[in-house]
Amino acid sequence: MNVLVAGGTGFIGQALSRHLLGRGHRVSVLSRRPSAPDAFPAVFHWDPEREELDPRAFSEIDAVVNLAGEDLASGRWTRERKRRLVESRVASTRFLVRKMSERDPPPRALVSASAVGIYGNRGEEVLVEKSAPGKGFLAELCQSWEAETLAARGAGIRAVPLRFGMVLDARGGALAKLLPVFRMGIGGTLGSGKQWMSWIALADVVQAIELAVSNERLEGPVNAVAPLPVRNRELTRALGRILNRPAILPVPAPVLRLIFGEMADEALLSSARAEPERLAALGYRFLYPELLPAMRAAIKI
Ligand SMILES: NC(=O)c1ccc[n+]([C@@H]2O[C@H](COP(=O)([O-])OP(=O)(O)OC[C@H]3O[C@@H](n4cnc5c(N)ncnc54)[C@H](OP(=O)(O)O)[C@@H]3O)[C@@H](O)[C@H]2O)c1
Repeated sequence: MNVLVAGGTGFIGQALSRHLLGRGHRVSVLSRRPSAPDAFPAVFHWDPEREELDPRAFSEIDAVVNLAGEDLASGRWTRERKRRLVESRVASTRFLVRKMSERDPPPRALVSASAVGIYGNRGEEVLVEKSAPGKGFLAELCQSWEAETLAARGAGIRAVPLRFGMVLDARGGALAKLLPVFRMGIGGTLGSGKQWMSWIALADVVQAIELAVSNERLEGPVNAVAPLPVRNRELTRALGRILNRPAILPVPAPVLRLIFGEMADEALLSSARAEPERLAALGYRFLYPELLPAMRAAIKI
């Protein structure tokens, strides 16, 4: 297939391009940087904030994967940053869908990032795709983001929001931020450590995206998480064990709130026990269903 990846320059996007190219697909990327159609993969300029998009980007495209969005974890959530976190996902997806709909015929599928953050803080509850969404900034952001993705159906485009758990790989995401702390031997549980964390190996993320792009029966939200979510204290223990470092210093919730503000309760202390019901129903076989082997592969130990 011919796949255009918006936000394809990032952590997941680069791994996805490598994976899709290796599987014989053709890949091009939408980025806010200048167009470079001769690059490999080809880069086409867009600026969703200014509603600019290189018209050459959509030529002969079968499917679009949307991974664009400002980094949620780089800095406190001030009012202005929250606006940008929302706009860079919700408004950019709306713009992308409008541009796709204007094509005749439009690309057949839109697969867009979402997150298990849509479920909010849910304690022990097992969360599958038909579970109700939760409350809070991240939950509401994800609901608006998914609504813009699903609006593509109005133009006959198959739409799949993929609700990613924490993507495990040393090159990006939360693990890249946790590793230096744990390597120094000062890692520990976040708050009580009882909160459930839904995670997924990067190798499974790119396979799940490929499945969503190519399987015409897949439509609507899909949990992209490993089948065995863990509590924060199990993840902490696994990291300490693999790195052979003590991981015994808990970071109390009030300290996290002082350092991270609202992000502490929304992301670090929030409990999401999501399971991949729809991927399982399709018979998807995880490369890394369990945490320890996934973590070892992520850190290349
Ligand atoms: N990594 C995870 O664990 C995880 C978990 C759940 C959900 N997600 C979601 O999955 C998506 C991809 O994640 P990632 O880890 O690959 O993120 P990433 O490395 O930060 O990459 C995101 C890309 O989005 C583009 N971007 C940044 N700010 C933008 C803006 N204001 N407007 C338009 N585009 C912008 C950037 O591309 P250019 O600079 O080239 O334009 C960037 O390369 C994100 O939306 C993220 O929220 C990730």
